[in-house]
Amino acid sequence: MGNVLIKNIKALCGVDESNRLLKKGKEMQEFTCIDNAWLWIKDGMIEEYGSMAELNLFADRFTHCKDMEIKDATGKYVLPSFVDSHTHMVFAKSREEEFVMRIKGKSYEEIAAAGGGILNSAAKLRAMSEHELMQGAYTRLLEVMKYGTGAIEIKSGYGLTFEDEIKMLRVIQQLKAVSPIEIKATFLGAHAIPMEYKNNRAEYINLVIDKMLPVVAGEGLADYFDVFCDQGFFTVDETDQLLTAASKYNIKAKIHGNELGVTGGVQVAVKHQALSVDHLEHIGEDEIHCLINSATMPVALPNCSFFLGLPYAPVRQMIDAGLPVCLATDYNPGSSPNGRMGFVISLACIQMKLTPEEALNAATINGAYALELSKTHGSISKGKVGNVFITKEIPSLAYLPYSFGVPSVETAIVKGNSIHVGF
Ligand code: NIG
Ligand code: FE
Repeated sequence: MGNVLIKNIKALCGVDESNRLLKKGKEMQEFTCIDNAWLWIKDGMIEEYGSMAELNLFADRFTHCKDMEIKDATGKYVLPSFVDSHTHMVFAKSREEEFVMRIKGKSYEEIAAAGGGILNSAAKLRAMSEHELMQGAYTRLLEVMKYGTGAIEIKSGYGLTFEDEIKMLRVIQQLKAVSPIEIKATFLGAHAIPMEYKNNRAEYINLVIDKMLPVVAGEGLADYFDVFCDQGFFTVDETDQLLTAASKYNIKAKIHGNELGVTGGVQVAVKHQALSVDHLEHIGEDEIHCLINSATMPVALPNCSFFLGLPYAPVRQMIDAGLPVCLATDYNPGSSPNGRMGFVISLACIQMKLTPEEALNAATINGAYALELSKTHGSISKGKVGNVFITKEIPSLAYLPYSFGVPSVETAIVKGNSIHVGF
């Protein structure tokens, strides 16, 4: 838990003392900034902030704060850290051979149906020890923190046997124990039907429900439950059955839906009061209507559209209809081998026509909502966790998404401690 005073900040952005848990519709345009500001993080938490003109009023309180690092942020912006609410960051190996197959004309679904894709990742993961998986995932975690992520979700789903799903969740549990940032774990045993169950889907679903779920719940290995409800994966009826089973253990749902087709994923997620429904590359008026007045956060994963050549989720239309929208990386070896939230906000602005302010809200406070972390993360608010980042010297806030692919974070601060970024 560190103490840091950041002075002369060009603009301190994402300030919010309203205690709201999310922003929706027009509210997503508000990303309040204080020009020429300071920010004080004390014992790892946001203590005070204000404009430089008033800094002297706090001088007495600073003198009582021991071991305080003082940083000068002239020409630089300070923002709340990103909250990445959807990743598959525990995985064995990259899958660039499938990337080349897609370049040559095969589709993601064709590769998956032939035993590649998720099943390819599962075969590789089964051959790896907990220790090796932990090392890879920890390296990725530290890397994304340097790019400004200050809280993250990680899913299982590359095990697809009892032993290997539990192995993945234990790796996530170990990561939680050593991670400087908050991690939420999601059990995704229903990510794909393993080849050996291809002709007996019900048996695999029963395995998830009767064997995996009781252990996952009993040992507290997961915060959330996920199903890949889509064309070629799990049907709406199967998803319904799985979500009904998870609800008996009071595990909330976060669903993969409508990535590959208009399949009813949104409707089944809302029916089960899922915390979020993620992907949404294939949705229309019915899905938007269904999400309005629900507590389910729609999460868009533009990296996936970019990488697989899918349509982008119609988030402009969703925000204009009054909905909240969240953005996440979906960091995984198959559809998004990149965990940088900075690139996600660029894609959201360039391809989905979100304004920089909307994209930043989607990547901070709405990400926090999708992980039930809004009370502690996602905005510059007194009493929230001191996870922020200082940008390089940049001309404006819009420069962040504008300069796509260029890392703009100069210093990541986690619970008041600075992390050396070095790029
Ligand atoms: O969110 N769509 C399902 N699951 C992952 C991809 C998994 C993979 O291809 O390894 C996703 O895109
Ligand atoms: Fe995913």
